[in-house]
Amino acid sequence: MRHLLISLSLLFYAGTISAQTKNTSEDILQKTDPVAMNAFIDNLMSRMTLEEKLGQLNQHPGGQIVTGAPLESPTGKLIAEGKLGSVFNVKGVDEIHAMQKVAVEKSRLGIPLLVAMDVIHGFETMFPVPLGVACTWDMDAIYESARIAAEESAANGVAWTFSPMVDIALDSRWGRQAESAGEDPYLGSKVAEAMVRGYQTRIMACVKHFALYGGAEAGLDYQTVDMSRQRMYNQYFPPYKAAVDAGVGSVMSSFNIVDGIPATANRWLLDDVLRRQWGFKGLLVTDYASIAEMSIHGLGQLKENSIRALLAGTDMDMCANGFIGTLEQSLKEGKVTQADIDRACRNVLEAKYKLGLFDDPYRFGDKKKAKAITYCKAHKDAARRTAESFVLLKNDAVNGKALLPLKKQGTIALIGPLVDTRTDIAGTWSTVQAPEKYKTLREGFQDALKGKATLLCTQGCNLLDNQKTQEMVARGHGNEPIPFVDADAALAEAVAVAKQADVIVCAMGECAWMSGEGTSRSILELYPPQRRLLEALTALGKPIVLLNFAGRATALQWEDEHLPAIMNVWFGSECADALCDVLFGDVSPSGRLTVSMPRVTGQEPLYYNHLPSGRPVADGSKDYSVFTGNYIDVTQGALYPFGYGLTYSQFTYSAPRLSATKMTTNGSVDVSVTVTNTGQREATEVVQLYIHDREASISRPVKELKDFSRITLKPGESKDVVFKITPDKLSFYNYDLQYVLEPGEFDIMTGPDSRNVQSTTLKVE
Ligand code: NOJ
Repeated sequence: MRHLLISLSLLFYAGTISAQTKNTSEDILQKTDPVAMNAFIDNLMSRMTLEEKLGQLNQHPGGQIVTGAPLESPTGKLIAEGKLGSVFNVKGVDEIHAMQKVAVEKSRLGIPLLVAMDVIHGFETMFPVPLGVACTWDMDAIYESARIAAEESAANGVAWTFSPMVDIALDSRWGRQAESAGEDPYLGSKVAEAMVRGYQTRIMACVKHFALYGGAEAGLDYQTVDMSRQRMYNQYFPPYKAAVDAGVGSVMSSFNIVDGIPATANRWLLDDVLRRQWGFKGLLVTDYASIAEMSIHGLGQLKENSIRALLAGTDMDMCANGFIGTLEQSLKEGKVTQADIDRACRNVLEAKYKLGLFDDPYRFGDKKKAKAITYCKAHKDAARRTAESFVLLKNDAVNGKALLPLKKQGTIALIGPLVDTRTDIAGTWSTVQAPEKYKTLREGFQDALKGKATLLCTQGCNLLDNQKTQEMVARGHGNEPIPFVDADAALAEAVAVAKQADVIVCAMGECAWMSGEGTSRSILELYPPQRRLLEALTALGKPIVLLNFAGRATALQWEDEHLPAIMNVWFGSECADALCDVLFGDVSPSGRLTVSMPRVTGQEPLYYNHLPSGRPVADGSKDYSVFTGNYIDVTQGALYPFGYGLTYSQFTYSAPRLSATKMTTNGSVDVSVTVTNTGQREATEVVQLYIHDREASISRPVKELKDFSRITLKPGESKDVVFKITPDKLSFYNYDLQYVLEPGEFDIMTGPDSRNVQSTTLKVE
């Protein structure tokens, strides 16, 4: 039987190959001949038992099974019995192939496994955390980061990544902001598309978490989400839809409820919106044990919830054992139909077919190639170039000259808990990181300064005062964690070291696992031990640069008031070298924030594209005024706004010019702006276009990003940047969820960030 399967697959694959040559798309999932695929899967399914079909819907973490005796492991037994369609987070070509061998040689029909992994911002070559990669605003670089991650994954046996995460993340207390592209639906959509395209050059992408996971109340992970459908469509859905439009092969539903029903089993969300309105035809997987968690949400028993999830459109059950454990009985009772199960099974098999697994179950995983390309020089160089995603937030003059870039001279003190940690350098969610290969900051600085300047290093403080919590977040993953030190001694040593230095560089903020899943914070300010260290160092009166390591927006009001230079750093395997490139001026930073940075935590959720208040208060207003939309105790608006970031040059902007002041609902106009580099060195600027609809049938955001352009100008050089305003840029989902362009007046704004814009008016007739 198994041989028949393999020869059938070869037969059908011949057809696939000719289809491939005709298809110019680089997306591996688009190369399949649908007729051949359907015939193959029809044939296969006609020979599958109900149990085998349910097995295909079942997914478990692989665990590391021992090569040579895989059948002895619980996972191996399930695979051999045909009760597992997919495994995830198994490392190593041998391990993966050992599992695949069991599936192909020991299960009755030899159906290959679909091997997945959380490859979130790189495989072994780790790019900055996704939030940081988004801060490049460079879609080619973002595509490339996903392409490289996919190339390394495929060579190492992985066929499917659970990425990109495109949840809109407005509340920086939510730790998973690190895995997102930030707060903007337009930028988020561009990033989603670039990542899907990059991944699917080699492996299948999975857009997650559908939907609204980032809307958790109070920024608390796994917490309730509740919002209007109008908000979903306009603000939260666009990046997921962009991924679907880009051809993403799979979607992961989210843990949270949507309109009172867990997304995992929300028929409106998964069937009406995703499948029918958006035309998604791929594989729909739950998040980890989500079907089981429905009981905790108060929706009854696993059996009932498995029915709900299947009928809503779920194809694969991650870890809950709901489908494999209960659907047979539900079928007997007539609560689900054979057609429902067949639909899910077909979607799983189609994914496997499109990935070429029936043709060659071992096509993912090539040890020779893996050795040659994993963490190779070209990949490292690409990751290092994302240095530009570090966002320079402040760079004031010290002794009449901007503090950064620093000169490689004199004595430099590098102080802080992030100075010497190898295990944190890659950042959160680095499943396959190889910390032993990465440089610590100290090593990066040593290499950069060798023979030119003296480097003094010390930890200076703990991350937090609470030892237990520090040990939990800085857990080291098998490597040396950031030690919990004697606070007084560490502080005294830091001050002694700093006294010898000409300039102090502080590496502080979050360690890797202080952002990511399950890492909500109620305080976004620097934690007390770190603040105390900064206070002691500022008392010395020496120039200080703060390298703020973070996987989210943090609240740096005190630091902004007391320090001359601040740069946000987003981790990555090449972080140390990349930082030195930027700090010492080989590269001029060009990262721009994709999240608004608050002054204080209490402003969260803080985002630039909020709806207008009926009693607005000007951004930056310091004085409290009663009965208006401000706080008693904080300056209005962000400390650093969305889109903001400095570089080592300066740019000026003209006012925006329209090619016509009126536009028809199916016409277009150009808006142009002249940008000039008035500084002393070549640098990259991200020119941004925002709109505001003044006369809509529903309230529309005060500003919405609608386009941007990354340009690099030499000193003194000017460029006219032209954006085309098309109907799509002015359209939105109205109260009835129809996508409309309503005539009326629009503000058209251009500038270097969401705060500093110049405006003109366009009338749509
Ligand atoms: C739970 C997380 O929410 C999801 O993002 C991840 O892909 C799965 N676990 C699998 O590890």
